[in-house]
Amino acid sequence: MIHILSVVGARPNFMKVAALDAAFSKNRHIKHTIVHTGQHYDEKMSDIFFREMALPEPDVFMGLGGGSHAQQTANIMQAFESVLLGTSPHAPFNEPPDALLVVGDVNSTMACSLVASKLHIPIVHVEAGLRSGDRSMPEEINRIVTDALADVLYVSDPSGMAFLAQEGVPGEKIEFVGNVMIDSLHTYLPLAKKRPILEDWGLTEGAYILLTLHRPATVDSPDALALMAGVFEALDKAAPDRALVFPTHPRTKNNIERFNLSDRFAAIRSLRLHEPVGYLDFLKLQQAAAFIITDSGGIQEESTILGIPCLTLRPNTERPVTISHGTNELLPPDTPELAARVVKWVDAAARGAWKTARPIDGWDGAAAERIADDLVRRFSRA
Ligand code: UD1
Ligand code: UDP
Repeated sequence: MIHILSVVGARPNFMKVAALDAAFSKNRHIKHTIVHTGQHYDEKMSDIFFREMALPEPDVFMGLGGGSHAQQTANIMQAFESVLLGTSPHAPFNEPPDALLVVGDVNSTMACSLVASKLHIPIVHVEAGLRSGDRSMPEEINRIVTDALADVLYVSDPSGMAFLAQEGVPGEKIEFVGNVMIDSLHTYLPLAKKRPILEDWGLTEGAYILLTLHRPATVDSPDALALMAGVFEALDKAAPDRALVFPTHPRTKNNIERFNLSDRFAAIRSLRLHEPVGYLDFLKLQQAAAFIITDSGGIQEESTILGIPCLTLRPNTERPVTISHGTNELLPPDTPELAARVVKWVDAAARGAWKTARPIDGWDGAAAERIADDLVRRFSRA
């Protein structure tokens, strides 16, 4: 029996670890425990995912919350070290785990990897090898550091194999396994399709645009956020009857208020700002949308598998397969006449002039099972 300890902290971690936990619980050779750092803590950013998915309550909840990057990283490191050393009153085990498993690229991922590496606990990184090439993104720093420390690197986007090879990671540490986030999509889509969110929100299938924005580059300055308001105003003018549905991330909501943009957003008649929604409602909202505009990482992937046209308002992506094989296109926010360009893309999709997705290797619903089998092979004691 091997003991794998997984870390979750922020919204996109929950659907990935849910898929892994489901595969691990079917494998009699794996004992799985979960630590939640508390990086995300609102009901709609955390608890709801535990209720909606077959994700067990975490064995340890550290409840650490936000702060600057340094504060958040340091707080998580201190608390996680005492969990691993067994000095925390909440430590759920007497012996260190056989491996620490981290997913994605959030601060919790990097902070816990740093702690484990100094305690000589092997690190397994799921979603390794993603690179945007843009070190102004905090996630890119987290990816580089985590991959440099990891002992086992599970790759989801085919581009990751080349990036890791270029960085000199030995081949025996790397495995292309596919995408665990898409495992969860396959598992939960049938339930999501039954959700009454369209009726509840008065929406018609195929007649609205779904929006999500939360990257610091898009929402952390008044100018950047005003640019986004300009895009929504142009979409509103082009089609006043087409709803713009915007479940708003807390970072974005706070910044709209902080930069005195609330009145400007409220004046856009077709724009509907909502609280973030749970995973099932959000899958349904994606699947029934005419078009998606986002700066999210995971939503580029989900929209590709759902076959919904997606415009990512960023200059780059760490998920290039969503462009080469999927329905995703990039549009940098500093593009001249951004709003008019967005309206053109949306019109093109409405005319059916949008690429269709092709199958992607390993995005088949079985990535977590491949990871479970590989972990048992690597970590079982002789
Ligand atoms: C984090 C990740 C980002 C990921 C995103 C997913 C890092 C560096 N960033 O960004 O990669 O795409 O999560 O959503 O790890 N807040 C709340 N309630 C919550 C959570 C956050 O009010 O439940 C507010 C707080 O003011 C907090 C701020 O949002 O300070 C930012 O949260 P944080 O976790 O630091 O970064 P995100 O922008 O959520
Ligand atoms: N998501 C959700 N509710 C929302 C918005 C997103 O459940 O209101 C889900 C979405 O389906 C995907 C994940 O959250 O599975 C993406 O997380 P996010 O965009 O916050 O982070 P990123 O992927 O950019 O790191």
